[in-house]
Amino acid sequence: MLTTVVARANSNVALAKYWGKRDEQLNLPHTGSLSVAMAGLTTTAAVSLCRGSESDRIIMNGAPASAREGGRISAFLDLVRERAGRRDRVEVDVRTNFPVAAGIASSASTFAALALAAAALLGLVLSEAELSALARRGSGSAARSVVGGYVEWLRGYARDGSDSIAVQVAPASYWPLGIVVAVTDEGPKRVGSREGMARTVRESPFFASWLATHDTDLATIRRGVLARDIAAVGGAAEHNCLKMHAVAMAGPEGLIYWNPATVAVIDRVRGLRAEGLPAYFTIDAGPQVKVICPRPERDAVAGALEQVPGVRRVLLSEPGSGAAVVERA
Ligand code: PMV
Repeated sequence: MLTTVVARANSNVALAKYWGKRDEQLNLPHTGSLSVAMAGLTTTAAVSLCRGSESDRIIMNGAPASAREGGRISAFLDLVRERAGRRDRVEVDVRTNFPVAAGIASSASTFAALALAAAALLGLVLSEAELSALARRGSGSAARSVVGGYVEWLRGYARDGSDSIAVQVAPASYWPLGIVVAVTDEGPKRVGSREGMARTVRESPFFASWLATHDTDLATIRRGVLARDIAAVGGAAEHNCLKMHAVAMAGPEGLIYWNPATVAVIDRVRGLRAEGLPAYFTIDAGPQVKVICPRPERDAVAGALEQVPGVRRVLLSEPGSGAAVVERA
């Protein structure tokens, strides 16, 4: 019998965003979304049987998880236990090699790696689609991190969420993009995406427009990826990102995820384009800016963004793989 399984998953960056749940319990989205896996921005989850223990033991980046984080992970493990018909408590050791909870989707790589490791440890044999649906329960964007390369998370229509899964649009090798993440703040974000989305769905007067125009962006981005057309993908991704932030800002509490450096990076990316460098930005529920460009231009983009006042560091990435088991014992 297995006693430990270690799995690894990359984070992903959405080019067409997921912003708004139609079912908060099952993390079912109002729209489809499309992302690319970010090689090297990785979470490794080791899950081991913890015999005789009454509770799970959860370590995150070398320290016991906070009650909130630990509770969220244990609740997720309960789903896996229920599916597997097992009651085992486990020890979970999660390590993420980039700033957590700051808008680089650490929850995506965490729950994708955890879903795979916990399912394998507890003897669940799942297809990629089933694993994606399971990871989605931990965090919506984790559904996409199960799959490698360019990935579409289908909205789905089934009540139980069984068709709200991620599928590969193209493998990583199909289009070697460059990805640069400009980190403008290393601290945790103030309003998590769960709460941000709930407020937006409930309160933003622009939410209906977000829904009405989203599928066009998604289709443009899907077509653009298949045509390896950076201008089409980048243009639609920027537009979709600005709409996501606009719809969040338009609620009564005016959710603003940006800081001054975020805006300075946007400005610099547009400046680079005016100088002939095809770079395009996108931003998730935090102040970091992710920039895509042709792979040969990545160093030039990174060098330019490093110079922007307020940028603390840049992370380099490219399209990466899906979740994988790296050790069984
Ligand atoms: O998976 P969550 O609940 O952390 O939501 C992610 C939301 C965004 O990152 C802002 C957009 C996306 O599609 O990843």
